[in-house]
Amino acid sequence: MNKLPFYASLSFACVLLSGAAASAQAPASLPRVAAGIPVNYDEDKVGTYTLPDPLVMADGKPVKDAAAWNKKRRPEILRMFETQQFGVAPGRPKAERFEVIEQGTAALDGKALRRRVDIHLNADKSAPVIHLVEYLPAHASGKVPLLLNISFSAASNTVDDPTLPVGEIWDAKTKAKVPATQGRAFGKIPVPLLLDAGFGVATFYYGDVEPDYAEGFSQGIRRFYLKKGQTERGPEDWGSIAAWAWGMSRAMDYLETDKSVDAKRVAIHGISRLGKTVMWAGAHDQRFALVIESCSGEGGTALSSRNYGETIAHLTAPSRFPYQFAENYAKWGGFPDKAPMDGHMLAALIAPRPLLLQTGDTDYWSDPKGEFLAAVAAGPVYKLLGKDALDTETWPKAKEPVLHDLGYYMHDGGHGMVAGDWEIYVRFLKMHLQPAQ
Ligand code: GCU
Repeated sequence: MNKLPFYASLSFACVLLSGAAASAQAPASLPRVAAGIPVNYDEDKVGTYTLPDPLVMADGKPVKDAAAWNKKRRPEILRMFETQQFGVAPGRPKAERFEVIEQGTAALDGKALRRRVDIHLNADKSAPVIHLVEYLPAHASGKVPLLLNISFSAASNTVDDPTLPVGEIWDAKTKAKVPATQGRAFGKIPVPLLLDAGFGVATFYYGDVEPDYAEGFSQGIRRFYLKKGQTERGPEDWGSIAAWAWGMSRAMDYLETDKSVDAKRVAIHGISRLGKTVMWAGAHDQRFALVIESCSGEGGTALSSRNYGETIAHLTAPSRFPYQFAENYAKWGGFPDKAPMDGHMLAALIAPRPLLLQTGDTDYWSDPKGEFLAAVAAGPVYKLLGKDALDTETWPKAKEPVLHDLGYYMHDGGHGMVAGDWEIYVRFLKMHLQPAQ
């Protein structure tokens, strides 16, 4: 499928305001070329663009009410992201099985009850297994709301819990599993902070679903879904981000059966490519009650139409991450203005559920301003559904959170999470999921 879809030729009248500049210029030392493709960090060279209007159907009809959004426009947008960006994922596997490895062990100085569950994704013994680790407030009186995190490393590296057995992660060099003594962890989750606020926490390693390199296809879950005789993936077949997001839905399948957890109040969190993952998981699976994405950048919430930092062309360059997306996504590289979807529509798919975008003012590559502008442009959908949007078109400075149903927070610093971010997450979670204290 190499032809542009019919809706690509339509353009909608939704021109964005630029917002006031909140942070310093990108330093001259940043590389201006990546994968052989120029990188723009100059606001004056971003250019003008017109975003597809989330509230106008592909056939030009306006979306006037919540029913039209839910029944017509939302499925239409979802389909665009499926076929053009992330790829089409299968449903819940018939053979899915939950094996409780540890029912409830006192952990974290008695603050938590730790539970470990293996989620078997396929009857085949060689198939991937999600090793979910949960921490529940030790003295909860009823079902608790919970933050489900997808991590770059095994739980033993993601949480400060010395009694948790060391997990395994993939070594990208040898393509083999090794003990998770180190790994890209982006700091640890401050589980006690969340427990004190009345929330449970669950986490799993994204590589449990599929390793994060092109060859990971033959080691992960997607190989079990090849059609008979199929040797290569088709243009709309799922990439690894869709596989990781699918893994989050499988974790949710389990959480729905966990009597300690209120499955109607499960929030999700991930950073970077896992920020893109939680955006897609939340868009696709409406069982998730709230989404917190950290620095999801290009291919996540940042507007691709803005030529700033990473672009679709960088993301899908053969030497970088084409395997993370549907093959179709690469064809929009260099032509984001022709694409039927952009980051603001991914954000709109989360509506009316609360969504917090957390960025960093020096994470130039991920375009924090592009994420803010996406949130502004998703606002009309939140409003149509009776929710509070950002209510500002001025890009807030670092450390000035804007927290409504849509939230935006830019920390003072680069790509990642800093301690203060977690305080903001907890504020946002409490605002919306109101745990019993
Ligand atoms: C690269 C990639 C980003 C991605 C990031 C990450 O920088 O270009 O799009 O978000 O890796 O996952 O850390």
